[in-house]
Amino acid sequence: MFPADTRQHAPRRADGLHRFSRSGVENVTKKLFIKTYGCQMNVYDSERMADVLAPLGYGLTDNADGADMVILNTCHIREKAAEKVYSDLGRIRPLQENRAEDGGRMIVAVAGCVAQAEGEEILSRAPYVDMVFGPQTYHRLPEMVSKAMRAAGEKVLDTDFPVEDKFDHLPEERGDSDAVTAFLTIQEGCDKFCTFCVVPYTRGAEFSRPAAAILEEARRLTRAGVREITLLGQNVNAYHGEGADGVEWGLGRLCRALADIEGLERIRYTTSHPRDVDDDLIAAHRDVEQLMPYLHLPVQSGSDRILAAMNRKHTADHYRRIVEKLRDARPDLALSSDFIIGFPGESDKDFAETIRLVTDIGYAGAFSFKYSERPGTPAAAADEQVDDAVKSERLTALQQLLESQQAAFNASLIGTAVPVLMEKPGRQPDQLVGRSPYLQPVHIAVPESRHEALTGQIVSCRIDRLAGHSLFGEMVETGAAPYDISSKERISA
Ligand code: 5AD
Ligand code: SF4
Repeated sequence: MFPADTRQHAPRRADGLHRFSRSGVENVTKKLFIKTYGCQMNVYDSERMADVLAPLGYGLTDNADGADMVILNTCHIREKAAEKVYSDLGRIRPLQENRAEDGGRMIVAVAGCVAQAEGEEILSRAPYVDMVFGPQTYHRLPEMVSKAMRAAGEKVLDTDFPVEDKFDHLPEERGDSDAVTAFLTIQEGCDKFCTFCVVPYTRGAEFSRPAAAILEEARRLTRAGVREITLLGQNVNAYHGEGADGVEWGLGRLCRALADIEGLERIRYTTSHPRDVDDDLIAAHRDVEQLMPYLHLPVQSGSDRILAAMNRKHTADHYRRIVEKLRDARPDLALSSDFIIGFPGESDKDFAETIRLVTDIGYAGAFSFKYSERPGTPAAAADEQVDDAVKSERLTALQQLLESQQAAFNASLIGTAVPVLMEKPGRQPDQLVGRSPYLQPVHIAVPESRHEALTGQIVSCRIDRLAGHSLFGEMVETGAAPYDISSKERISA
């Protein structure tokens, strides 16, 4: 999961703002506002919720004021993310009252992982909430809505775990399928039980969708113009779905099958666990051209003592070896990671090991967080909690290092030609914005008359300058030396 609240790369559609009128949806009579917190899985779920509600006449709006339904699709991964939900609910309440004064009705719903974890408590802390439902039940939204509409005051609480049901009942047509890039959930839940993490409790046990259903969804998206698919799962490389041939497939096999789909130019996956990087997946990075050379492979800590206490089930050297194998298979591979700072018992020496690992590996991007005690997880009960001032100090030092590595990586692209998937108009009139293989936003000078023709195309672009984490450049029609990261020094600050 890439948590949206702290991400360094701009999220795609993770801000909860969706279009009101979507292609393929007729008779839009009611306004639906969805705010998405947290990871890309929640972004996917929010989009699917909109698809489930579209036949009931709900179309997306980007303003909660005046909406007929407001859904907060929440995240429970850290304390801050969970608390934000209650402050947002406080802001929504007067909008709901205004609506009632005007003779209308605004249904307020809390979905996602906070809903799953806190259920009943939400209804008692915020009694004006009409519906609370977890990540595995939103295919039942039509029944929930009709129950909530029957009588104001009748509350809906649905936090079961029927994960197979959900995918079997979601509509085939996707409202976002006119986009250039799309998320596709292939796996959900987690059986790893890292001692800091709520996911196994909020998302449930690991479940992999059958390959045939995934391939069909990918084909539909590609036919509608999607060129890049990001496969999602809490533990995406633990994927072990029933294959199209009846035998169990791993993620490598699935990527190979996806690569055969005509028009699918780019494949990504997130988020992965070092323990589940198998030889076939490494081979897929070598063989499958469409598999982008940018991998999010969270390590959390560089200290073996802390990794053991976290129940990560691998050592720092195991991680180093996997990265080495991946880089041998795909020399232009760049990496990003998640780090937790101040896990219970983390000493200066443990933290120094994390700094050493980061220096050795060299990351092109990263997300780093102070450890946050999550109720019900084993680490929350540990005695040796780290002082907040110490966490802050260590986090600042780590982020400086990661930031300098990211800046060095971005700067290494100046003067090279990178393939950019053109996605949408930029802020300036004569500008298109796309993404490099490394997910960097690339702003390219293109006359407006060519925008339509180039959107969805992969164009070679010479990078001239950087601003923040964005790259700027011009299209190169022919003849430029292709970008080749393998010819560069490995980045490390
Ligand atoms: N405290 C801080 N960070 C956490 N993460 C998960 N649980 C916690 C926690 N209790 C981070 C991990 C994970 C990412 C999605 O969020 O780094 O990889
Ligand atoms: Fe959480 Fe660990 Fe599972 Fe990732 S692998 S979702 S961090 S329990």
